[in-house]
Amino acid sequence: MSESRAPRQDSPVAARVRFEPMKVTDLDEVLAIEHLSFPTPWSRAAYHRELVTNGYATYVVGRLDGRVVSYGGMWVILDEAHITNIAVHPDWRHAGLGRLTMAVLEAKAVELGAVRITLEVRVSNITARRLYDGLGYRGTGVRRNYYSDTREDAIVMWKDLVPPVGTAGEGVEPDGDGGQ
Ligand SMILES: CC(C)(COP(=O)(O)OP(=O)(O)OC[C@H]1O[C@@H](n2cnc3c(N)ncnc32)[C@H](O)[C@@H]1OP(=O)(O)O)[C@@H](O)C(=O)NCCC(=O)NCCS
Repeated sequence: MSESRAPRQDSPVAARVRFEPMKVTDLDEVLAIEHLSFPTPWSRAAYHRELVTNGYATYVVGRLDGRVVSYGGMWVILDEAHITNIAVHPDWRHAGLGRLTMAVLEAKAVELGAVRITLEVRVSNITARRLYDGLGYRGTGVRRNYYSDTREDAIVMWKDLVPPVGTAGEGVEPDGDGGQ
């Protein structure tokens, strides 16, 4: 993936973050953020497998002045993308980096042929739920006891990345019948 510049103009921090594919050499920094962010962090071996042997996986890191401040990943299988993880270093939260990291993953998913994207989020993770709501993800169901550490339920969320045929404004003529 080529390096992409932050599009948001309203956050000076976000505008300085550069995204690039996650590498094995990023794992010390990634795991430090992972341990600060999740009750049951992924192991180094789990990330290593994702980066080295999982051909469906795409992971990115966001760097500020060379240091990893955010990361996220997904699997893209056929036309569906599935977010597996996203986190922002606690010192850099509330500056738009979560939104930006999601935007980078979504753009990459579209590039890889995805037309929709899904994720699971803990019912109690209000911050992440607001982030996803704000990005247009919609809850479509609940997976009971999804998280093995706490048996907490997950909300399943989906978003269309490419408007379904016939629903986009362009090229669709109004039918003029006054229907709702
Ligand atoms: C979830 C997380 C990635 C958000 O990162 P962030 O950089 O703080 O998010 P942003 O600054 O881009 O905020 C995006 C939106 O999220 C919501 N949000 C962010 N922080 C919030 C907070 N403390 N309380 C409520 N909503 C919040 C807001 O809707 C915000 O939009 P706004 O700025 O217009 O108000 C970050 O909190 C994190 O790493 N958490 C721990 C790991 C985690 O839970 N990952 C998600 C697993 S599903």
